[in-house]
Amino acid sequence: MERTLVLAKPDAVQRGLVGEIISRLEGTGLKLVALKMVWMDTEMARRHYGIHRGKPFFDGLVQFITSCPLVAAVFEGPKAVEIARKAMGDTDPARAPSGTIRGDLALDIGRNIVHGSDSVENAEQEISLFFKPEELFSYERQIKPWIIES
Ligand code: RTP
Ligand code: MG
Repeated sequence: MERTLVLAKPDAVQRGLVGEIISRLEGTGLKLVALKMVWMDTEMARRHYGIHRGKPFFDGLVQFITSCPLVAAVFEGPKAVEIARKAMGDTDPARAPSGTIRGDLALDIGRNIVHGSDSVENAEQEISLFFKPEELFSYERQIKPWIIES
């Protein structure tokens, strides 16, 4: 089953929005399979955001993401990557529609409170950066037939 990494970023922790972010993603029906608080160091941040190395916002992004603990979660379900990104809205909160996490709760592209993996391949890499295999839980939900047809 597809998995995606979600980060409630340091701005979400500071603003007390971690519960709301996790709650909105749980509300989609995706299954929460891992959760923890992490204080990223510079090396981990540079790996996580390696694709953005050299871009003008890179140093600020690394400084920000390491400035305070964040909350990392893994959600699982059909099209988990796409469903989580849709719930988050566009990277720039000004373009994110109302009803999305960023559209409702953020203002600034550099303080957009949440991260979601952008592909299945990147999700697998990102999850392995944050979680050991034994930190990912495998369990059944009785409600599953009411969320997923087959
Ligand atoms: P994320 O990786 O955090 O989930 O966000 P994303 O996929 O929607 O956006 P991405 O292009 O991967 O950019 C990563 C983060 O860098 C910051 N950013 N700032 N000032 C800028 O032009 C700019 N562009 C990107 C954002 O905080 C974005 O979430
Ligand atoms: Mg990204």
